Amino acid sequence: MKRLREGGLLVCVMTRVITMYAAPPQDIVATQDIEKRVDALLKQMTVEEKLGQMSQSTAMASPISDEIKQQIRAGRWGSFLNAGSPADRREAQRIAMKESRLGIPLIFGRDVIHGYQTIFPIPLGQSASWDRDLISQAAREAALEATADGIHWAFAPMIDIARDPRWGRVAESLGEDPYLTSELGSAMIHGFQGSALNEATSLAACAKHFAGYGAAEGGRDYNSAWIPEILLRDVYLRPFQAAREAGVATFMTAFNTVNGVPATADPFLLREILRHEWKFDGVVVSDYEALTNLIAHGYATDARDAARRSLLAGVDMEMVSTAYFDHMKELLAANRVQMAEIDESVRNILRLKFRLGLFDGRRPSANQSNGNALTTAEKLATESVVLLKNKNSVLPLNPTIGRIAVIGPLADSPADQVGTWAMDADASRARTPLAALREMLGAGRVAYTPALRSSRDNSTAGFAEALRIASEADAVLLFLGEDAVLSGEARSRAFLNLPGAQEELVDKIVETGKPVIGIILAGRPLTFHKVAEKLDAVMYAWHPGAMGGPAIARLVFGQTIPSGKLTMSFPRTVGQVPIYYAHLSTGRPPVQEELGVPMGTPENPKDYTSRYIDVDFTPEYPFGYGLSYTTFRYSATRASKSQMTSSGAVTIEADIKNDGPRDADEIVQLYVNGPIGGSAARPVRELKGFERVHLKAGETKTVRFSVRRSDLAYYHGRMIFSAESGSYQAWVAPDAARGIPITLVVE
Ligand code: NOJ
Repeated sequence: MKRLREGGLLVCVMTRVITMYAAPPQDIVATQDIEKRVDALLKQMTVEEKLGQMSQSTAMASPISDEIKQQIRAGRWGSFLNAGSPADRREAQRIAMKESRLGIPLIFGRDVIHGYQTIFPIPLGQSASWDRDLISQAAREAALEATADGIHWAFAPMIDIARDPRWGRVAESLGEDPYLTSELGSAMIHGFQGSALNEATSLAACAKHFAGYGAAEGGRDYNSAWIPEILLRDVYLRPFQAAREAGVATFMTAFNTVNGVPATADPFLLREILRHEWKFDGVVVSDYEALTNLIAHGYATDARDAARRSLLAGVDMEMVSTAYFDHMKELLAANRVQMAEIDESVRNILRLKFRLGLFDGRRPSANQSNGNALTTAEKLATESVVLLKNKNSVLPLNPTIGRIAVIGPLADSPADQVGTWAMDADASRARTPLAALREMLGAGRVAYTPALRSSRDNSTAGFAEALRIASEADAVLLFLGEDAVLSGEARSRAFLNLPGAQEELVDKIVETGKPVIGIILAGRPLTFHKVAEKLDAVMYAWHPGAMGGPAIARLVFGQTIPSGKLTMSFPRTVGQVPIYYAHLSTGRPPVQEELGVPMGTPENPKDYTSRYIDVDFTPEYPFGYGLSYTTFRYSATRASKSQMTSSGAVTIEADIKNDGPRDADEIVQLYVNGPIGGSAARPVRELKGFERVHLKAGETKTVRFSVRRSDLAYYHGRMIFSAESGSYQAWVAPDAARGIPITLVVE
């Protein structure tokens, strides 16, 4: 619920916490009609046809081979992923529906992760906008483009909680926080799926990876996750439950083990929680060859065992490997699985196909994006950029400035700025920062050299030219960061510093004494403490997508104002990882006065508190942090009452004043802690609400959050989900490290 009253000095923004972004679309509630049609079809199916429905393949190359055509006719495949051209998909669908015995349509899935032909910022960048509506709009634009090419199913959103920046897939995540991920993941689902799944422009979304994938030990992709059930439910599963409530059509299993059991064969996750507790009746697809990976896990003895254990756990569709098709008949004959178990999975798959309208003449949509996607891409890139430092308000640059030097390979690399998962990107749509700056200022005022061949280049051969153009310029825009290939799947890093010779490049350029603005394009939080100290300003732009160039150029020159805020805590050094704001307090918490290094000596530490002897205990930049070209002043947090009864809600609010010179957006955050004295220690703070508010220069708005007792609930004891009585604290704050709390007593 959101209420906005304009006019007058005080404008109130009212928001309710914990409400999901959208109500489940009507069609997600299975109709009796669909169930009847599913049953009627199931009765006619042979075992091979059932197993075919449970099989998803990449094998449909372009043009479709006669062998695959024949297999489609025989009902060998229920789905293809990342396969074929739009024309191939049309032809394959024609064969499936007209020439196979039962005419069951195929479902075409694809990794439409952050855009299709028009690429939006990487999801981690999108999350830094904290903008539910815009993120939803981007997913809608992606759906418009992808459905026009005959895609029915997007393998997104990835709602794994990401607290370890070594893990390359943080790029695809929505950050470290379960509440924010729930809200933004639900917004994406709503955007992909539209108002009804059977509309021509709706893409089935996929909540992935279920579950615990983000907790991979050491940040190493695919690695084991050990997550106590309380933490699993309170943190890692929350976004998935929210996705379920938002009506997500499908779930994808995770590659990893959780507490020793591979998620792809875990009856606790897939049966007990997903099907039984959450009553999910959509499709569960495995991840890529995750069934046969059970053998390498040392969990399944062979592919036959893997098929049995995954089926019993509740995996409906096998991605790429063929354990189901190859072994299920044998398992049936040996009475190791029952036909009812197979039927249940086939039912889920057919139900999805009916819900999508695939049986009812669904055709590829007409592409209706009309260039809106580029507008959305630029807006989202703008909102996702986080200003981390702005010494002496060096930014925005004055448009009348004489000449600027643009340095760094990432200033002009369309393939890198779109980031991971951009296989369908239309390269002609990407506008680089260099191109945008030249267009804005005129080519004559913009000198450019890459200085390095890529972000990983160790050669300093290009530095001389960089120095030359920097010394002739009035300001330097130094593009730093990571190439696209350094983040994403299987791209874990043990070092988080700027790769290659970039740090040396910074050293050289700052020696010119010119104002140097660092613009970092990256797929994860990097560590760049020393670099940031030397630079006059730092903008973190992530991999900003197709329209990253114009978005950055306009921000630099003040045509737009930075407003993004971090959704992962940035460590000072990789040794602090994992570092996240919603941690528990230790029994010996360090205090603010203990900031700074050295603190005593290793032989004689000053205090025995929980910190490092060689680096501050705090992050470099906290969760929720981001600067603007204006300044915002927060009043003290207030509550409508200091006691909360079991049924009543309390309004928590603060006045936010834009006391700087420019109109701008501020992302206002509500944090809660508590109760003190409950049955378990609770995180020092937890995000419970947020609102992006526009404030004109000089304007004040009151931002109000309505909090019910159920919004404070958490898991404790024997998996009881409730808010225990006691004393809570609440902050309305600009980030997770600031603000003064008020006390709220819950009866
Ligand atoms: C593996 C990834 O983990 C998953 O997220 C993706 O959707 C599939 N491959 C399909 O490409």
